[in-house]
Amino acid sequence: MNKVLLLDFGSQYTQLITRKVRELGVYAEISPFDLSLSRIKKENPSAIVLSGGPQSVYQERAPLVKPEIFKTGVPVLGICYGLQLMTHLLGGKVSPSVKREYGLARLKVIDRGGLLAGIRDCSQVWMSHGDRVERVPPGFIVSGKTAHSIAAVLESRERGLYGVQFHPEVIHTKQGNKILANFLFSQAGLKPEWKMSSFLEAKIKEIRQQVGREKVICGLSGGVDSLVTALIIHKAIKNKLFCIFVDNGLLRKGQYRDLMERFRDRLSLNVIGVDSSRLFLERLKGIISPERKRKVIGELFIRIFEKEAKRIGGVEYLAQGTIYPDVIESHPVRGPSSRIKSHHNVGGLPSSIRFKLLEPLKELFKDEVRRLAEELGVDKEFILQHPFPGPGLAVRIVGEVTDERIDLLREADAILIQEIKRARIYNKLWQAFVVLLPVKSVGVMGDRRTYQSVVVIRLVQSVDGMTANWFPAQAELLSRISNRIVNEVDGVNRVVYDITTKPPGTIEWE
Ligand code: XMP
Repeated sequence: MNKVLLLDFGSQYTQLITRKVRELGVYAEISPFDLSLSRIKKENPSAIVLSGGPQSVYQERAPLVKPEIFKTGVPVLGICYGLQLMTHLLGGKVSPSVKREYGLARLKVIDRGGLLAGIRDCSQVWMSHGDRVERVPPGFIVSGKTAHSIAAVLESRERGLYGVQFHPEVIHTKQGNKILANFLFSQAGLKPEWKMSSFLEAKIKEIRQQVGREKVICGLSGGVDSLVTALIIHKAIKNKLFCIFVDNGLLRKGQYRDLMERFRDRLSLNVIGVDSSRLFLERLKGIISPERKRKVIGELFIRIFEKEAKRIGGVEYLAQGTIYPDVIESHPVRGPSSRIKSHHNVGGLPSSIRFKLLEPLKELFKDEVRRLAEELGVDKEFILQHPFPGPGLAVRIVGEVTDERIDLLREADAILIQEIKRARIYNKLWQAFVVLLPVKSVGVMGDRRTYQSVVVIRLVQSVDGMTANWFPAQAELLSRISNRIVNEVDGVNRVVYDITTKPPGTIEWE
């Protein structure tokens, strides 16, 4: 299989390049820029892309690569900082631009014999760097220019070296895909062979070989990632895979039964259902702190897992639904993102349990996992379901988690979801849920004064959960939800709507 190796110099667009290359049908993977030459050779890439980055090549401690990389015979495309690096290391000169060229620019095409085949003259491109190529390195031609940058596209076709000053991977570069395709196909000679079905086949074979006759366990969280992980492994080793699905008593109304039915009957997985709701509730007694709740729940999951693994006996592998963004979050080029909440991944076990890890999705992006889910026969409704936190309703009950409070929240939440689906806005939202507050308010029902709980409706839109906007829901919808909750859920007499964005708020209340 053709593979493009993307060396990352810290550009905000690095992931996007990977995506674009994969969309063009070639498998691409990100590595830190300082991957050694021998490792690069071992990876055996069919082409290399050097990403953009915030630094300047002439600065002290600028991130560099060994110049030998340009002599391996593997075609290289440098993007922005990548182009400057290539220029700097191959005998050209890069300097700060007098006129900084940020944002939109027009590309004047000089030579259409390589990277710019089929590119219109004055096509729009996106620039985002203060430096420019002042002297072109020997052996390169300038095949495209912009108004301020003397060289926007450099090529040394016989050596397979190419560079662009702008970002072909962003949508503002109108013919960016064509430029990337030219590099991959006509210049580097790759073939568009990466497809979900071929990925699936290759993975199944790989797992079969790796695992052999050993047993594997996989925790199902109710989300897409862990389910797809299980389905792939199941295809490879059938009932040597033991899935574990824990009812922690903190799931949404009907969720445990629905999911068990889906896993077992519709998808034929070998699932052990563990009802531990009493245990979770007991351990959560008296706990108010959100972080403490997460910790207690996380630890209980682990204990239950350990117990089940022991019961099954002879388990060698643990499968996890880790996906690509989880892997590259620990990337050395990027600064460590500060931890706001300790997110507990249900499948995650501590290193003290010595299983070998199986992570079949670790090269995939979320939407690729969704496509794979479809390929594996998972229905659309499940694939498009909203994210649900591992600690479940416990982090939506502000204050102590008790039987009564869970019941109350579960009922209110079920009404909300029903109305959201009825109004056909479920798929427009990132999440929709109810939060129970430890606050009572005065109300009047019939002729009687009431003193009951307040619940919050939270509807948010988001692309990745990192930022979010509250949803401007129609007044009639809110009114219907509020009426139903107050009338149908015993113990609630007031409903409020959360109009906080993230940041500064978070999506969940705890
Ligand atoms: P916040 O509340 O931090 O949430 O804005 C961002 C996204 O993460 C989900 N979330 C969790 N998921 N365990 C999880 O598996 C957790 O402890 C947890 N806390 C928040 C949240 O639902 C949202 O999608």
